[in-house]
Amino acid sequence: MIIGLDEALAFAENKNIGLAAINTPFFEGLLATIEATERVGVPVILQFAQVHEPIVSIEDMGPAMVELAKRSEAPFVLHIDHGADIDYIRTGLDIGFNSAMIDGSTHDYDTNVAMTREVVEMATERGIKVEGEIGVMTGNENGDPSQGVADSTLYTDPEVAAEFVRATGVDCLAASFGTVHGVYRQKPELDYALIAELRRATGVPIVMHGGSGLSKQEYHECIRHGVRKINYYTYLAKAAYDAVLPLVDDPGIILFSDLAVAARTGALSNAAEFIETCAAV
Ligand code: 13P
Repeated sequence: MIIGLDEALAFAENKNIGLAAINTPFFEGLLATIEATERVGVPVILQFAQVHEPIVSIEDMGPAMVELAKRSEAPFVLHIDHGADIDYIRTGLDIGFNSAMIDGSTHDYDTNVAMTREVVEMATERGIKVEGEIGVMTGNENGDPSQGVADSTLYTDPEVAAEFVRATGVDCLAASFGTVHGVYRQKPELDYALIAELRRATGVPIVMHGGSGLSKQEYHECIRHGVRKINYYTYLAKAAYDAVLPLVDDPGIILFSDLAVAARTGALSNAAEFIETCAAV
């Protein structure tokens, strides 16, 4: 079933847990995430990031995501992740996504505000909730290990964040406090006090991007300090890859479909563990 981002966030808020927000730009990852959600029994956010267009287009993958979520008894939000422009977000909403992130964080403040406001206005007409971003995180959503070190000079400033939320009307905020997208090159130093300050100053739930690669304790501390949505992709895709790797040189395996089944199994246990971790604070 499909539920709204507001309903999912309210559930997380009431229970003091985090929502797993998982990117599924490959079919085995999608099937695995749906099955894992059904097993754990909490709402999950299924996401498609614009940066994953070279893997598969939202026009091809989006309808499968929407249809499988509708068919399932488990509750899903369908979220457009890191939308770079309003046209892309409109395309996703037309496909059936019901939640969106506009990422203007690489632009200057005024441009970010203007882009984000435009999306909030368009989304509000359709009853859709919006995530914005302020502050810069290194790395990218394709698991890029080249930059896996956070730069504390780029962390989100709570005063600027509060002003941004007031000026744009976003419903939740992606912020920079020590995580990076992709694989970490060194152990992350998470600024929990900053998360709490961002939450207090903005009054909206804080979104963690770069959710792969933290310990259970780190996830739980972030949630306790005000994170409600945790974006996750790299380690899911890596779990699928790790499950396939031992089979590649097996002379008894000659069909790609056997690798696809292994990838799905690897992704399933990884997704279930991640969803459980977010929900068991
Ligand atoms: P990871 O690459 O750390 O899994 O983060 C994914 C993400 O933040 C997508 O928006």
